[in-house]
Amino acid sequence: MNPLPQNLQREAERIASRHPCPAFYVQFKAPLSFARRLFFNHPLLILLRDRLEPVLQEDLGHGMYHSARVSIDGAALIQAEMETNPMEPARLERLILMGLIAGLLHDISRGEERHAEVGAREALRYLEALPLQTEEIECICQAIRNHEAFVTPKTCARPSFQLVSDCLYDADKFRWGPDTFTHTLWHMMNYQELTAQELIARFPWGMTGMVRIADTFRTATGRQFGPEIIETGMEIGKEIYRYLVQHFGD
Ligand SMILES: [Fe+2]
Ligand SMILES: [Fe+2]
Repeated sequence: MNPLPQNLQREAERIASRHPCPAFYVQFKAPLSFARRLFFNHPLLILLRDRLEPVLQEDLGHGMYHSARVSIDGAALIQAEMETNPMEPARLERLILMGLIAGLLHDISRGEERHAEVGAREALRYLEALPLQTEEIECICQAIRNHEAFVTPKTCARPSFQLVSDCLYDADKFRWGPDTFTHTLWHMMNYQELTAQELIARFPWGMTGMVRIADTFRTATGRQFGPEIIETGMEIGKEIYRYLVQHFGD
């Protein structure tokens, strides 16, 4: 990364660290840690991460860092949603695994037009090489196909597929919170070779998008905890904007 976005990212991390941690990450510590354990230790995930490491591109801030966070938050959301709807533990773990895999693969075609649809097809190539059942592959591909914002999603064939799909969506949109400013924005700035002034000019437009996403969460847990994540991101964003104007404004 070039020095300017890199330095701005460090500053943004300092600003973000002064903001409270959104409640989702406090209330769901146990599901998050279970998800993290599977993400780093399950043989399927180890295999898939190895294969995806060279493929996922960091260009626009949608590389392994983003995918891992979507994967883990999505798996935690599945557990949170299932708290009131008990399922046989082995089946639940399998569903959590589907959520983790969907998260890892969801932006595999991020650079393409209609990347959700194209990504679902590309993901198939990886999924067919893994020991998964046909319906599990279908579940993951459908979730990937449905993860784009501001597009009406297709209804899934089964409630469990719908859950994986909705949890993937919400976990991906959680990234529009603080992650926008601790991660994504600086990779975009770097890749697009934006100057600080160009970044300042685009800032208000970007913040408008954040407001809109807060109304789109699909799970009950996402609707309850997602808006606060976005709100925290916006507070961090406002401070970064002031910092940019102060140091780089005309
Ligand atoms: Fe995406
Ligand atoms: Fe994403």
